[in-house]
Amino acid sequence: MKVLLLTGLGALLFAFYWNDNFDPASLQGARVLLTGASAGVGEELAYHYARLGSHLVLTAHTEALLQKVVGNCRKLGAPKVFYIAADMASPEVPGRVVQFALDKLGGLDYLVLNHLGATPAGTRARSAQATRWLVQVNFLSYVQLTSLALPSLTDNKGSLVVVFSLLGPVPASFSSPYSAAKFALDGFFISLRRELDVQDVNVAVTVCVLGLRDRASAAEGVRGVTRAREAPGPKAALAVIRGGATRAPGVFYPRRLHLLCLLRGWLPHSRAWFIRQELNVTAAAAA
Ligand SMILES: NC(=O)c1ccc[n+]([C@@H]2O[C@H](COP(=O)([O-])OP(=O)(O)OC[C@H]3O[C@@H](n4cnc5c(N)ncnc54)[C@H](OP(=O)(O)O)[C@@H]3O)[C@@H](O)[C@H]2O)c1
Repeated sequence: MKVLLLTGLGALLFAFYWNDNFDPASLQGARVLLTGASAGVGEELAYHYARLGSHLVLTAHTEALLQKVVGNCRKLGAPKVFYIAADMASPEVPGRVVQFALDKLGGLDYLVLNHLGATPAGTRARSAQATRWLVQVNFLSYVQLTSLALPSLTDNKGSLVVVFSLLGPVPASFSSPYSAAKFALDGFFISLRRELDVQDVNVAVTVCVLGLRDRASAAEGVRGVTRAREAPGPKAALAVIRGGATRAPGVFYPRRLHLLCLLRGWLPHSRAWFIRQELNVTAAAAA
């Protein structure tokens, strides 16, 4: 009986984690609008999509960085790549970005939301003004982009892919405004998935929880503050792409983050203890 149970559990885990039916050819010619594409996770996502033959509209804040990424995407084989430099802190910008993508690509199969603004006052600033700015860039602009792209995604049975952070479902210390925006994203997109489902709208919503990655501004920002291990960037980006292409509801990279998310709300004292072990409190408070 025990052996049967363990075998069944093993098969379930295998089906959940490894048997994702990813077909790289499904992304050939797919029309993708990708935000935050000039650096970090977004830059790596752009290179993967380019290699897989997707048609891309890339957006981020800094034009020079975007031009470099566009050049690299062309070298990697992307058949069509366009870019639009835009600051998501301005509420009228998401509309311009979606319209640009629809004009250039003629429709959308994927909206990949990944951009991340760090407040001009610093990532741990808690003032109302800094938080308002952060909520516009890291939450409201996601909502605007989604609402504007949804009609085209619906027509094309497309996908919404949201790059997310462990600091949404599992808040840590010294990240309250950042965690608040990520929490809001979690609520919005999980509710939206249910709403689409009950209306029989065939648009997938894939929420991707990533841990710390190397070579990223986020990792730089917490260096010396957290002892959390950094995960390799290109592999994290590939996990996001596979999850989006297979219409998975959730992606966890590294996979152990899934357990942490499942345990949220449970064992709060031991969770606080674990977070404390990963944190250099003196450095974090001084930052
Ligand atoms: N890095 C990590 O360790 C980590 C861990 C977990 C989750 N994540 C998630 O992964 C995603 C990407 O993070 P990342 O670390 O790759 O970030 P990153 O390296 O700092 O890149 C952020 C991207 O967002 C763009 N951006 C910043 N402010 C913007 C604005 N006001 N308007 C438009 N675009 C703006 C940047 O453009 P410019 O360069 O032009 O400013 C850049 O392309 C985020 O959603 C984050 O929560 C990252």
